[in-house]
Amino acid sequence: MEQRYLDSIEHALAGALERIELPPLLGEPIRYALASGGKRLRPVITLLAAEACGSTSADAAPVAAAIEILHNFTLIHDDIMDRSPLRRGQPTVYQAWDDATAILAGDTMMGIAYQLLSEHYPPAVCRQLVAECSSAFVEVCIGQAEDLAFRTVPSVTMDDYLRMIGRKTARLFATAAVAGGIVAHASHDVLTALRTYGTALGMAFQIRDDVLDLFGSEDFGKELGHDLREGKKTFPTLSAAACATDPDDRAAFAMYLAGTPPRNRDEIERMRERCRRLGALEHAESLIAHYLSTANAALESHLPPTSARDRLCALARATRNRHL
Ligand code: IPE
Ligand code: IPE
Ligand code: MG
Ligand code: MG
Ligand code: MG
Repeated sequence: MEQRYLDSIEHALAGALERIELPPLLGEPIRYALASGGKRLRPVITLLAAEACGSTSADAAPVAAAIEILHNFTLIHDDIMDRSPLRRGQPTVYQAWDDATAILAGDTMMGIAYQLLSEHYPPAVCRQLVAECSSAFVEVCIGQAEDLAFRTVPSVTMDDYLRMIGRKTARLFATAAVAGGIVAHASHDVLTALRTYGTALGMAFQIRDDVLDLFGSEDFGKELGHDLREGKKTFPTLSAAACATDPDDRAAFAMYLAGTPPRNRDEIERMRERCRRLGALEHAESLIAHYLSTANAALESHLPPTSARDRLCALARATRNRHL
């Protein structure tokens, strides 16, 4: 991704933090989270969407930074919920500090994000951005609640899973794209196309994330196999379970889906191999390809051809091969 987009995001993030005087107990974990090597995918989408709709990335930088702050807030709380030890190759915030500090740091970030919106945009645009971000947030929380609740529900289907990731992950990608359009005063049709793009890209992104959690390499930066340990209903487990015919495979998935996760490395490895053998990787690839072509088709049919639109399409294509 072009450096100027990343620079403008870093600049807006630094500006947001500089203006508020925070005690070290909040300032340190917040800076730790924001400076630990996130890919900045969502804010880059916001800047590119704004440019693709005829605005400048400078106009979109405050809302792009707000969305990155909201994203990092969800990650800090997600790591508490998932009991994840590592993120971006470093201890998670609740591990480096404690649960209470991580909860408060996240809450503070929510406030900082909304401050950015109210300070940088005229009332009508601010109202639209706040409405978009707030409803996204409710959806993310519903998706996160489902993600946790599904662990012990054996009857969760692939459709339930897709609806859940649509909420917990794809919705914020959609908001990232739509926010760029809002700043640029884009038409209703263009906002709809941006929403389709962000949603489809987010779906592909979470399916890939589930695959990487199980089959990724060390540089993924998170503990590999952690979703299995937590008994999560993920793309690989649901896809492989649906294809299992052998009695041994069926019994193993029935136990897993009912809420009994593998207890040690050997059991995790056996489950990983079952998922691989039952085609989870190939099924993920084809669904990811489907979502990415939906994403790019929406842009190509509703936005004028610009280099920003091309970059958004390239960003979607890159999701197909991401390993981080
Ligand atoms: C992680 O998102 C959360 C998911 C939706 C899977 P990213 O992989 O975009 O996180 P960072 O910010 O780049 O670390
Ligand atoms: C997405 O799910 C997280 C959020 C919506 C915040 P995951 O739990 O899979 O994300 P990672 O793998 O911890 O980044
Ligand atoms: Mg997690
Ligand atoms: Mg999670
Ligand atoms: Mg994950």
